[in-house]
Amino acid sequence: MAIAVAVFSSLLLCSVFSLGDALSSNYYDKTCPSVEDIVTNVVKEAFTEDKTVPAALLRLHFHDCFIRGCDASVLLDKFGNSKVEKSGPPNLSLHAFFVIDNAKKAVEAACPGVVSCADILALAARDAVVLAGGPTWYVPKGRKDGRTSLASETRQLPAPTFNLSQLQQSFSQRGLNLGDLVALSGGHSLGFSHCSSFQNRLHNFDTTHDVDPSINPSFAASLKRVCPAHSQVKNAGSNMDPSPTMFDNTYYKLILQGKSLFSSDQTLLTSPSTKKLVYQYAGSKKAFYEAFAKSMIKMSSITGGQEVRKNCRVVN
Ligand code: HEM
Ligand SMILES: *[C@@H]1O[C@H](CO)[C@@H](O)[C@H](O)[C@H]1NC(C)=O
Ligand SMILES: *[C@@H]1O[C@H](CO)[C@@H](O)[C@H](O)[C@H]1NC(C)=O
Repeated sequence: MAIAVAVFSSLLLCSVFSLGDALSSNYYDKTCPSVEDIVTNVVKEAFTEDKTVPAALLRLHFHDCFIRGCDASVLLDKFGNSKVEKSGPPNLSLHAFFVIDNAKKAVEAACPGVVSCADILALAARDAVVLAGGPTWYVPKGRKDGRTSLASETRQLPAPTFNLSQLQQSFSQRGLNLGDLVALSGGHSLGFSHCSSFQNRLHNFDTTHDVDPSINPSFAASLKRVCPAHSQVKNAGSNMDPSPTMFDNTYYKLILQGKSLFSSDQTLLTSPSTKKLVYQYAGSKKAFYEAFAKSMIKMSSITGGQEVRKNCRVVN
């Protein structure tokens, strides 16, 4: 039964997603040659005001691509009674929507009706990583925006409690392999997490352990101080790493010390092939940057939409 469900859901996803159809890095060369500069300038401006903008943009792009392909479905506001992705459960720390609004406005002023919101988000995520000190890459363009966004579909996102086989399944349904999983997880070099995302590791972890034994004990103790059981403190949590606004390979070094936040991070050590990559990226920022850029292009090439939205928050 479980196998039947898994096969069925992967067939379903295959029909919804396609990898890289008709995207190209010179897609707007004739119709909107300044699009990259315009987006870069808007992201830069936002970054000057708020150093948490890169983390937000990167996570938005990831969430976008994992549901219905990179089609800007994550940007839609609720219409009528419909609950959209943005109001679905893993919505904590989804922010910086205003940056995409500003970029879209500026792009529309230069080349109306041409550039999709999904492309703007893909460009903004790349610019975000660069501003945070990370690698750059050519963003393939030509995505279309979708007309559907459903809160219920946020269940398709991988959860921070996932083990390696669950993560592998989630990624492979989208044409991404274990190498992509290890490289893209390095996105957790940036940003912040709320207690709820790693609380499972700190209290009543399993029948024999209160605390996840794979966490470094002193790190677990410090997390427990910030995130006590049944805490009602809103917005309590932890930075992903000690340099949450700098994109670097610290994430992998922390995994090796048992100091990553999520089970889904720590579980990268549970197979020989993924463990080897964690060691490699912990030892070489350059190797990580190259792998991250390659896998970002792969992830951001999952397409799914139909139109070029006029306003990123509403369908045409
Ligand atoms: C491998 C599966 C993944 C899981 C289970 C996962 C889970 C999470 C969770 C639970 C949070 C914290 C939300 C909160 O409590 O506020 C988070 C934050 C974040 N994730 Fe992931 N994530 C995954 C993959 C990715 C990927 C592929 C990227 C980008 C390449 C990414 C980028 C981020 C960023 C930048 C943040 C911080 C957001 C902020 O501070 O605004 N994640 N992730
Ligand atoms: C986020 O998701 C939770 C759980 O579904 C929901 O109660 C909350 O209203 C959502 N937040 C936003 C801003 O939509
Ligand atoms: C991962 O979790 C799933 C679902 O809980 C479980 O069926 C599977 O056995 C787990 N895999 C490993 C390697 O622990």
